[in-house]
Amino acid sequence: MATNQDRVNFGSKIGAILAAAGSAVGLGNIWRFPYETGNHGGAAFILIYLLCIVLLGLPIMIAEFSIGRHSRANTAGAYNVLAPGTPWRGVGYMGVLAGFLILSYYSVVAGWTLEYTWQAISNGFAGMNAEGYTQFFTNFSANPWRSVLWMVVFMVMTHMVILMGVKKGIEKSAKIMMPMLFILIIVLVVCSVTLPGADKGLAFLLKPDFSKVNADVFLGAMGQAFFSLSLGLGCLSTYASYFGKDTNLSKTALSVGVIDTMVAIMAGLIIFPAAFSVGVSPDAGPSLLFITLPNVFQMAFGDVPFLAYIFSVMFYVLLALAAFTSTISMHEVVTAFVHEDWKFSRKKAAWYVTIFCTLLGVLSALSFGVLADMKIFGLTFFDFLDTLTSKVMLPLGGMLISIFTGWYLDRRIVWDELTNEGSLKVPFFKVYIFIMKYLAPVAIGLIFLNELGIW
Ligand code: PHE
Repeated sequence: MATNQDRVNFGSKIGAILAAAGSAVGLGNIWRFPYETGNHGGAAFILIYLLCIVLLGLPIMIAEFSIGRHSRANTAGAYNVLAPGTPWRGVGYMGVLAGFLILSYYSVVAGWTLEYTWQAISNGFAGMNAEGYTQFFTNFSANPWRSVLWMVVFMVMTHMVILMGVKKGIEKSAKIMMPMLFILIIVLVVCSVTLPGADKGLAFLLKPDFSKVNADVFLGAMGQAFFSLSLGLGCLSTYASYFGKDTNLSKTALSVGVIDTMVAIMAGLIIFPAAFSVGVSPDAGPSLLFITLPNVFQMAFGDVPFLAYIFSVMFYVLLALAAFTSTISMHEVVTAFVHEDWKFSRKKAAWYVTIFCTLLGVLSALSFGVLADMKIFGLTFFDFLDTLTSKVMLPLGGMLISIFTGWYLDRRIVWDELTNEGSLKVPFFKVYIFIMKYLAPVAIGLIFLNELGIW
């Protein structure tokens, strides 16, 4: 049995919050959120996104926390404890698989952040023109050696933290990196919003344009909410299996949700004012971070080259930090499973995850170059994994987790977890159960049907 009552715990409540927030805050906030916002009507998208966070994201996060802490097991083991001998275990397996797949392609982009940090530090962007940046990115991402090399470096860094364990690795690294991330992001926001002409970017971000809202926007917002909060694959349930008995689950979920949303909006406050200030279109797609932005930074601060330099370095360090605390959490989902359920030592388990994930990651890395023509359902390998996980596996996982919590799990367990066995007041319990039972499954189901073109 995977459960283990004397498993390690996070050492402190703040450590638990920072670790979970570290998982949530990642490339999703800085890479995906701004371009989803750009594509879907600015503030109108943000409002719908907030609705998804409050009505679906936070309740499902609390469910994952309850499942993890109650079972004190990895995400697949959790269903063995809570629903032995039932097919619910499949939800756990799907989560482990999703964690593995996301880690494999996510670490490719994470590797790019290292290349760009390196370029920023060695002043490699100075004096380039717009075409130069495009060329640089295309050449770099298509170069089989360079992108694979950086991906491997990122994977090894993640591996090291996992080897150091839950307290000394995951918790400690979050306690160091998250405050650094907060400081960097605040400094960058202040620099960006004080640029001349920044107000147009602010208006874009803060004035809703509802004419762009359609079903697609809802799907985009929901997918983004799940991805950004690391929901639907048991990542936060794995972390919650290391929470102490006195951790307030609803409060922790609220803190993680608020931090994650603030960072996403602040990323927008860095990117849009700077982009509008130099007249660059913000809906430039995923290349926004790696082609548009280095150029924007040079143009915006070009009069004072030192400022352009510092701003770029800080921005790419920020990206790398954000990605790092997230890859650690994905690795832990899979490592905890391999260790506890397949009975390998933690060290061996971590090695297997690192090696196999790196091998799969190579395919994603090469899909920007030599394997660009290898298509699955018309998508490159990288895009296929991204779509499969964020548009299908995570929302499906989220839906099943809410059905499990609302319909299957003993109400007493949910109550005990939310109230810490009666010691906390939870006035919203009935509403919570209603969301788990009806609202979340139906809302996610409808958005799914819509995507398939059935509804
Ligand atoms: N939430 C992370 C981000 O925003 C990505 C992630 C997804 C991390 C799933 C863990 C699990 O980048």
